Amino acid sequence: MTIHPVTGTVTQAAMRALMPADMPEVSRLHERVFGPGRYARTAYRVREGAPKGTPLLSQYCRCVAVGPRLLGSLNMTKVSIGGTGDALLLGPVAVDPEFANQGFGRSMINDAIDAARKDGVKLMLLVGDAPYYARMDFVAVPTGQITLPGPVNPARLLAIELQPGVLDSYRGKVTAR
Ligand SMILES: CC(C)(COP(=O)(O)OP(=O)(O)OC[C@H]1O[C@@H](n2cnc3c(N)ncnc32)[C@H](O)[C@@H]1OP(=O)(O)O)[C@@H](O)C(=O)NCCC(=O)NCCS
Repeated sequence: MTIHPVTGTVTQAAMRALMPADMPEVSRLHERVFGPGRYARTAYRVREGAPKGTPLLSQYCRCVAVGPRLLGSLNMTKVSIGGTGDALLLGPVAVDPEFANQGFGRSMINDAIDAARKDGVKLMLLVGDAPYYARMDFVAVPTGQITLPGPVNPARLLAIELQPGVLDSYRGKVTAR
């Protein structure tokens, strides 16, 4: 359930997989949340390097929607790290500021984590605020162990092991698969 903060209207918000038809809405949401600098985000840079023909969306992308309107979206890119696969790069994740702090961000992330773990994905990586993602068990990657296109503040490079002990085996450059 979602209560609009201004109108007070109550609506049913549902989480589901993100589909190609949602992409115009995702673009609008990203524009609203991140502004014109959004294409400089690390996840966009990694995706740009994907082999030609790679689908834009993986099965781990999620959204929270009320009908056709997206309240939040989560992108997830399949990556290799130093040539080792079975890893995902989370981001961008965005929740419409009008609907922030209702658990939508956390639900999308946890749902994607559960699905990825079931599929045997071993590691999920992201660049983001440690205090937010620590609640979902993400930890800082040791400085210099994993590199991304462009500079990244090491304190913001975070990962969650979906199988115990795998982080140590992921070393090197992140590339889209
Ligand atoms: C970050 C974001 C995805 C969180 O989504 P959300 O649905 O609003 O958040 P949730 O409901 O899952 O979690 C809310 C809690 O996280 C906290 N939180 C939110 N953003 C935070 C941040 N950047 N750092 C630390 N804590 C944060 C809130 O204060 C709240 O705390 P509480 O439970 O103690 O009240 C959303 O605020 C957003 O889109 N932000 C702008 C874009 C962004 O920074 N994206 C992440 C980088 S790709």
